Amino acid sequence: MSTEHTDRFDAAFHDIAIRHERNWMFIAVSMIALLFIAAVFLVVHDYGVVAKTSAVYSDPNTPSTLADFQGSGVRQTGPDSYSVYEIGRAWSWTPGTATPLQLPQGAHVTFYVTSGDVLHGFEIQGTSINLTAIPGVVGQVSYTFDKAGTYMIICNEYCGAGHQAMIGKIVIGGGRS
Ligand code: CUA
Repeated sequence: MSTEHTDRFDAAFHDIAIRHERNWMFIAVSMIALLFIAAVFLVVHDYGVVAKTSAVYSDPNTPSTLADFQGSGVRQTGPDSYSVYEIGRAWSWTPGTATPLQLPQGAHVTFYVTSGDVLHGFEIQGTSINLTAIPGVVGQVSYTFDKAGTYMIICNEYCGAGHQAMIGKIVIGGGRS
């Protein structure tokens, strides 16, 4: 008698426990899913930019011989639009290191980035721009410089003895030039 009572109680308790476990599992899985979606949204939306590949060459030296990459490397493509052809080399950015890159405030810039030797990390501090400069590959990333000021281009991939000094400068002016 007493055993039967306990069994019935156990069965009822078991059902309730299962229901609670399912609910809590649903809540936990939903929270993880929401966090995941929020993280993906943040990366894609706020940190912008999953960088695109603009071109690939069998000879890694090809991009640096192209007309676009010669001279200042800066081309105006519209009233507020610019293309910047950037080459990373151990241990400088061209343009950027020898001569700061000067652009007006509000400039919408598409960077075409490659490397003349080894892998470099093309990161512009305070922006969403962060891509790897790869020999033989031209990466592409766009950004609008809404704030005036000086932005540092830093190399964020170890590339040899001078890596920490591989720094360039972008100066965004107060008005249109
Ligand atoms: Cu270039 Cu580190």
